[in-house]
Amino acid sequence: MAEVRFDDRVAVVTGAGGGLGREYALCLASRGAKLVINDLGGAMDGTGSGTTAAEQVCQEIKDMGGEAAPNFDSVSEWEGAQNIIKTAIDAFGRIDILINNAGILRDKSFIKMEMEDYHKVIGVHLNGTFFCCKAAFPYMRDAGYGRIVSAASGAGLYGNFGQANYAAAKLGIMGLMNVLKQEGAKYNIMANTIVPIAGTRMTATVMPPNLLELFKPELVAPMVAWACSENNTFSGYTFVAGAGYYSRAAIMEGPGVTFDPNETVTVDMIDDNIDKITSLDGAVPYDNATAQTIHAVQHLNLG
Ligand code: NAI
Repeated sequence: MAEVRFDDRVAVVTGAGGGLGREYALCLASRGAKLVINDLGGAMDGTGSGTTAAEQVCQEIKDMGGEAAPNFDSVSEWEGAQNIIKTAIDAFGRIDILINNAGILRDKSFIKMEMEDYHKVIGVHLNGTFFCCKAAFPYMRDAGYGRIVSAASGAGLYGNFGQANYAAAKLGIMGLMNVLKQEGAKYNIMANTIVPIAGTRMTATVMPPNLLELFKPELVAPMVAWACSENNTFSGYTFVAGAGYYSRAAIMEGPGVTFDPNETVTVDMIDDNIDKITSLDGAVPYDNATAQTIHAVQHLNLG
């Protein structure tokens, strides 16, 4: 079995001072990648002095014999995102891999959610991912190579009580990847999403202790690292990983029903056919919006 390697590859991991991001970084570094470790600048001991989380992960990588540079900018600012990518260019001369992992939670029921909770979460997850991709994409295009993996979430895919802001941001990220997969295709840029399930600071208060132990963050890292590798030619895919479980999630569309568009379609016709309209038997994922439109008009005699 050939080893999947990242020699001479440069990777940026946002929010990599702990949790999943740190595991992604360590996994890539252990296989030869040079790393930019981004996380907010707060010192580990909370006193404002001492080694930051990002610096500590850099030290871990150096102790393994690897190369790493820290960055303390916030992904939620456009200038910050540009600085994060610039750190890779300044330190290592290129960027091959971007893992959009930084994240926060501001959970509240929809009724109680303040607009600030919404803007903060959209700012870090959706804007942060958009900004970092936007800053990295020109370098990847010029190099004719790029691997982007962005953190989505089961809350976005399926919903989770109290996470309206977070779920909206996370599914927004999947929409962004759907477009980047198309715009990146001719430059060998693959853009995918990861739906992790892991015991971290983020989930420590919501997962029962016995599950926290099973859902080790290091079990998510191999899936993410593979999606960042040259071996991965999938783009626009959503990988799921947690507790040794690896899978693909996808947005699918059922075959539905088709009425003659030149005839009147009544509400009663919808009512009579609602079971067929909502059935997912024979559902397929579409590669792009045009493929979906083609499916919708396939039955028509357009001549
Ligand atoms: P975590 O809280 O351990 O790590 C998130 C990191 O992002 C922290 O180190 C934090 O300081 C950093 N961060 C926050 N705001 C930032 C900003 N503006 N700029 C730069 N860094 C910032 O959480 P965890 O669990 O490791 O989550 C990583 C990603 O995976 C997040 O995007 C999260 O939404 C996603 N995720 C995690 C799941 C889980 O089960 N742990 C489930 C689904 C998604």
